[in-house]
Amino acid sequence: MLRIDIISAQPGMFAGFLSESIVARAVKKGLCSVATVNLRDFSEGAYGKIDDKPYGGGPGMLMTCGPWFAALKSLPPADRIVMTTPAGKPFRQTDAESLSRAEHVIFMCGHYEGFDARIETLATDFLSVGDFVMTGGELAAAAMADATVRLLPGAIGAGAAALSDESFSGAGILEAPQYTKPAVFGGMAVPEVLLSGDHAKIEAWRKAAALERTRRFRPDLDGSRRENETEGGGR
Ligand SMILES: C[S@@+](CC[C@H](N)C(=O)[O-])C[C@H]1O[C@@H](n2cnc3c(N)ncnc32)[C@H](O)[C@@H]1O
Repeated sequence: MLRIDIISAQPGMFAGFLSESIVARAVKKGLCSVATVNLRDFSEGAYGKIDDKPYGGGPGMLMTCGPWFAALKSLPPADRIVMTTPAGKPFRQTDAESLSRAEHVIFMCGHYEGFDARIETLATDFLSVGDFVMTGGELAAAAMADATVRLLPGAIGAGAAALSDESFSGAGILEAPQYTKPAVFGGMAVPEVLLSGDHAKIEAWRKAAALERTRRFRPDLDGSRRENETEGGGR
């Protein structure tokens, strides 16, 4: 069973995520465990202090080493320790796949101006959710944990077939456009082939439509990227 621990100075941010999501359901089904660890429980001084001014000057505060080293030491060893950071490798489906095969994953959520660089020695992976800067790592950790947990066998109702046809899975391109009832809405009709019942034709249409959609929305994806990706996202 996959064990996930999330170390955060704002563990309350995960309340909804851990009570009203597919992740919550997966925990209930016994597919994984997800727990938060309050970094402030490991603060060194009074008032739960976990930050200090950067050496050499500069704006803002940095997270200090002591609480992070103590928090990590309080947990059993993990095979993957993910530092959430905008400087990390962009998180991809292949990362979710490899995290879902781990036994124990720890997410480290930063705050303020980020981590004292020595804290990086604790991590095995440095992952970003995109080229933008958020105030903390909680939403990044939640996004990565969600993408990971839904890949655990039995986590989503539609099952393994739904996962293998998805965007970024299999060939690493986008999913074909999909339609549901009604067959005509506001003068817009569903492509006829999807109503034909001819599975071979539908499959061929979906392949072509997926390629067309990928060229339109994500021309940078050519399906070869997955083969070149390595596990870990280490520096
Ligand atoms: C304000 S950010 C620190 C940014 C840092 N000063 C920099 O320029 O790279 C605070 C924390 O939010 C999290 N964070 C912000 N943006 C992120 C992103 N795009 N992906 C993952 N984590 C992010 C990280 O944990 C980071 O330590």
